[in-house]
Amino acid sequence: MEMFKPFVLKDMTLKNKIVLPPMDTYCADNEGNVNDIHFNHYVSRAMGGVGLIIVEATAITQNGRISDHCLGIWEDSKIPGLKRIAEGCQRYGSKVAIQINHAGRKCTAKADFTLAPSAIAFDETYRVPKEITKDEIKEVIIQYGSAARRASEAGYDALEVHGAHGYLISEFLSPITNKRTDEYGGSLENRARFLIEVLKEVSKNWPSQKPLLLRVSATDHLPEGMKVEDMVKIINMVKDKVDIVHVSTGGVALAPIKTYPGYQVKYADIIKKECQVPTIAVGLIRTEELINEILGNERADLVAMGRELFRNPYFVVQTAWNNGVEYDYPDIYKPAFPGKR
Ligand SMILES: Cc1cc2nc3c(=O)[nH]c(=O)nc-3n(C[C@H](O)[C@H](O)[C@H](O)COP(=O)(O)O)c2cc1C
Repeated sequence: MEMFKPFVLKDMTLKNKIVLPPMDTYCADNEGNVNDIHFNHYVSRAMGGVGLIIVEATAITQNGRISDHCLGIWEDSKIPGLKRIAEGCQRYGSKVAIQINHAGRKCTAKADFTLAPSAIAFDETYRVPKEITKDEIKEVIIQYGSAARRASEAGYDALEVHGAHGYLISEFLSPITNKRTDEYGGSLENRARFLIEVLKEVSKNWPSQKPLLLRVSATDHLPEGMKVEDMVKIINMVKDKVDIVHVSTGGVALAPIKTYPGYQVKYADIIKKECQVPTIAVGLIRTEELINEILGNERADLVAMGRELFRNPYFVVQTAWNNGVEYDYPDIYKPAFPGKR
């Protein structure tokens, strides 16, 4: 089965093509520290056989948190906790990435102010952000670089830059949230400038032999927003710095999104073909049949399962067993998996 074939990206070899996408568990303390709930959650998915585990949106700075209960990577004291998760998952043969994020105008955490390309609130329930100055842009870019360095020191196999869902990078990319008149706003090239500068700084602080993932929203699902054609151009601008693109959609502004199994796969497919880059497909992928369809038809290179892996951390192990696939089950479970079915 295609999903059980290994996948190689730079120095990282995944034992299968199933990914746990980053999913905020909103259970950190107010200081963004790792606790046992995080550890148990991620290590359970590793014991369940997930090839690549991407740790949830982890804030590069305090006012870059989505909520008061997001994980943080803004200071070196966060490294040991994050390292514990990475090592715990690696023990079971999973590879581990961490998603680094600045929430921009979607920060709901306690903070003196929030930052965004333009001073426009997401809606009436959010604060009006401060328009980020060029000096603050420089500062935030350095924070991305420091976060990458910490992720490397914590032993992560890969790093994902969160460029999706209407957080800071995505706010720069979308014409809905970026009304700037300087070199960071206006044309697509200008709106991509912040992302490009972030990726440059991250690359300086992240080992070149380890993969760098970029998560994007391929479309804002709104006529005045980003379209997949725009995202294709952006990926073409940054693909020399990115090893795989994790293709999601939406989140910049409220939009009507028609959802159905695999509803975002077409965007992963377009970016894969038009930009000639590996992609991860995500969004309501819950069955072996759909995974086979996506991988078999080469519509994406990897498949992420979010809520399904929340419901069933053992999806991979069970699918291997149900299909008689040779599989290296965790030692303690071997009595239940005596050989090929
Ligand atoms: C509770 C929850 C938390 C999420 N947190 C994040 C996050 O931290 N970073 C991110 O990029 N996406 C996040 N997402 C989006 C998921 O990664 C995924 O794209 C989405 O759930 C669709 O996949 P699914 O239908 O397989 O669940 C979150 C989704 C949920 C439901």
